[in-house]
Amino acid sequence: MPSPAPDKAPPAPRGLHVMTWGCQMNAYDSGRMVDVLATQGFHEVASPDQAELIILNTCHIRERATEKVFSELGRLHGLKRQRQAAGGRLMIALAGCVAQAEGEIIRARAPYVDIVLGPQTYHRLPAMLRRAEAGERVIETEFPPEDKFDYLPGEAAPRGPGGLTAFLSIQEGCDKFCSFCVVPYTRGAEFSRPAAAVLAEARGLVARGAREITLLGQNVNAWHGAAPDGTSWNLGRLMRALAGIDGLSRIRYTTSHPSDMDDDLIAAHRDLPQVMPYLHLPVQSGSDKVLAEMNRRHTRAAYMRLVARLRAARPDLALSTDIIVGFPGETDRDFADTLDLVREVGFAQSYSFAYSARPGTGAATRADQVPDPVKHERLQALQALLFAQQADFNARCLGRTLDVLIVGPGRRPGQMSGRTPYLQPVHLPGGPDLTGRIVPVTIEDARTNSLGGRLAVRPHTPEQEPVSA
Ligand code: 5AD
Ligand code: SF4
Repeated sequence: MPSPAPDKAPPAPRGLHVMTWGCQMNAYDSGRMVDVLATQGFHEVASPDQAELIILNTCHIRERATEKVFSELGRLHGLKRQRQAAGGRLMIALAGCVAQAEGEIIRARAPYVDIVLGPQTYHRLPAMLRRAEAGERVIETEFPPEDKFDYLPGEAAPRGPGGLTAFLSIQEGCDKFCSFCVVPYTRGAEFSRPAAAVLAEARGLVARGAREITLLGQNVNAWHGAAPDGTSWNLGRLMRALAGIDGLSRIRYTTSHPSDMDDDLIAAHRDLPQVMPYLHLPVQSGSDKVLAEMNRRHTRAAYMRLVARLRAARPDLALSTDIIVGFPGETDRDFADTLDLVREVGFAQSYSFAYSARPGTGAATRADQVPDPVKHERLQALQALLFAQQADFNARCLGRTLDVLIVGPGRRPGQMSGRTPYLQPVHLPGGPDLTGRIVPVTIEDARTNSLGGRLAVRPHTPEQEPVSA
């Protein structure tokens, strides 16, 4: 597999600072950019002051996310000027979805940015860097014909807490064109990595200490990759292969679209103990009218039927979701339907947003935009309900014994911290010898965002007790 040729004599280590906004895919991409630049002598540093190169890996999903990037850029411009005044050099690269969508605008508005690169071109960073060092202002935001994954250094490193958890990007882009969403424009058309490449990367991550892998994709459950047996696999089949990797104890995947949840994938939840009983399944709205106008391609009833099938397959499954309030034309009645759906499903976790009109998307130019105060009132009402559900889900873990992957020290001395199957952080008394183990923990304390407990004394059947939100 081709990879960037390393320089002959290893250059002196150079400081690299990466700032990441947005989704887990961006977190994965940031890690891979670090891998690429390590071949050029760069190593990660904790602060911009120590860096020779700063990368801002940006998110374009909502207006607020984009604004944050521009205010950060202003701050870094100051740092760059100071550095130059002292005879030094600071290079700034803008990566990710803001770069993809607004590359030309950035070039005009922030001429001190040395490199603008989209999410599909970061394997070319070494060459871009050389051009920027020669004084060129580089902009690479096209969707190149080659597959960046073929050109990235082979080994991704697990980057989660303690190196025990890792992200693995298996699918990118989206063909769904929900009318609020920029992703099909910033990340491009759906693309699935071949099964062999995914399995090789997963084996590498496990060999380097990962016990839990989260498969990533904008539409991860639409994954359909070329398989070693010459056929095309779906995600359920891929997970069966992943479950065969020795030492890989936990598998997760995100983000899924309800209409791509097929029988095989539901069966994987039923049959594979490695597949965690926790699923992020965005619903966006509980109103059929709004769902249709969002171009979500499913109804409220279809979502409810899907939830029922998933829970039948895996009774201890808990769900999280994404919801948008204030989509153009959303009435009080539509919003009431959303609250009602949330009550009916019961979510363990959730992410909720006020609709933000994004340039170039279908709904952005609609005349019936919902006024900001109405959006915010609805968001508050929705979040009150969602937080209460989350607190309630955690409270119902009290007294239960859950399998916890211990990832590192806790906040206080003599404490360790870990994650339940439902991704709740847990603190418990214990020593560093527990790191990397999956241990039964009896939950004794429940807060909205975390749990406390102690090692269970009684025998325990792993990850079998039902809990549903
Ligand atoms: N406005 C508000 N929220 C949005 N999301 C995506 N686009 C927008 C937008 N224009 C939310 C959706 C999606 C999540 C990642 O972000 O809920 O699932
Ligand atoms: Fe955006 Fe819809 Fe694609 Fe998700 S499915 S990335 S919300 S267009």
